Amino acid sequence: MSGYDAAALLAQIADIGTDPRRGGYTRHVFDAAERTLREWFVASAEGLGLTVHVDRNANLWAWWGEPGNDAVVTGSHLDSVPGGGAHDGPLGVVSALAAVDRLQREGFAPTRPVAVVVFAEEEGSRFGMACLGSRLLTGAISAQRAGGLRDEHGTLFADAARAASFPDFGVDREALGRIGVFVELHVEQGKGLIDLGAPVAVGSTILEHGRWRIEVRGRGDHAGTTALADRRDPMLPAAAAVIAARRAALARHDARATIGRIHPVPGGTNVIASRVSAWLDVRAGSAADTRAIVDEVIAEVAEAARREGCEATVIEESYSGEVRFDPMLRDRLARRLGDAPILPTGAGHDAGILAAHVPTAMLFVRNPSGISHAPEEGADDDAVSAGVDALVATIRELA
Ligand code: GLV
Ligand code: MN
Ligand code: MN
Repeated sequence: MSGYDAAALLAQIADIGTDPRRGGYTRHVFDAAERTLREWFVASAEGLGLTVHVDRNANLWAWWGEPGNDAVVTGSHLDSVPGGGAHDGPLGVVSALAAVDRLQREGFAPTRPVAVVVFAEEEGSRFGMACLGSRLLTGAISAQRAGGLRDEHGTLFADAARAASFPDFGVDREALGRIGVFVELHVEQGKGLIDLGAPVAVGSTILEHGRWRIEVRGRGDHAGTTALADRRDPMLPAAAAVIAARRAALARHDARATIGRIHPVPGGTNVIASRVSAWLDVRAGSAADTRAIVDEVIAEVAEAARREGCEATVIEESYSGEVRFDPMLRDRLARRLGDAPILPTGAGHDAGILAAHVPTAMLFVRNPSGISHAPEEGADDDAVSAGVDALVATIRELA
């Protein structure tokens, strides 16, 4: 077995960014773990004879041969959600390295440039904007807006990027112009492949999705001495948002709405908060449903805020329309992979951002629990090897 076996590569990074408090991994853009992963990627790619460049947006590109236009690009990301699993992102990166290694050992000579890419800040876990590296690259977010994003400590993306030697972030037409086709392999974040009894699927669509920040202002006070009638507790409208999100999503086919992050200020057990921020994540099959869910949550928060004497505002932090991956590429790959099943997903990906610019496809690899964004996320060894086989076949087909 080569050192570039996907499971062996995952094992090499298994200790990087472990989170003893939450479990799983916390790897956020430009933190110590993510920087170590970048170094690991550069060394691993160079070990295959690839030439690594980093672009102005901190995305890493490992070229097999000379960088050039009309390239076949594959890869994913190395950052994680807080307390995330080992596979979301890294599986696509290690599978890409393993596939290149296999093709080299088989003597395959690509007729197009081939590159392995690692996109920065895919999860948006530090600066709040998912797929920040690919959005900057494609111009889906302006440098000005990105520069003004702040992490939970108040650090501006502009300052963090400058400190990491990326002062000149922004749309990168040269890097985008080189991509002829992009294929992202990713662990499946659901149970579709378990139900189908198959190890690998080709992606069809990504649900419409977005993030909204709900800010409720009330009045801080004493939990023991303040009569209930005298309170202006911002936690009540925030709680109304949690319930409304579930109710509104349940009323629509294939919709999801989640509040997974809530931040009371100052955050004391015996303190009525003066302010609460809550982040709403909504995904649905149509813009109409997505917007209707958000509108219902906003209406219920406003009503709860009125009853409690609080003020509420809702800010849209990001929005991504439905993605339909290139149907010709999708069908071509599914055929090449022995009539692999075709599956939609509710998860966002850099592939979804690139799909607006270049022919793009995704390969999903079976996850035995279906769980993702949690330490229990997994992929069984057979499925991981089948994923590398699929990526090898894909690169042979396209390059
Ligand atoms: C990224 O994984 C997302 O779907 O939020
Ligand atoms: Mn993810
Ligand atoms: Mn991912």
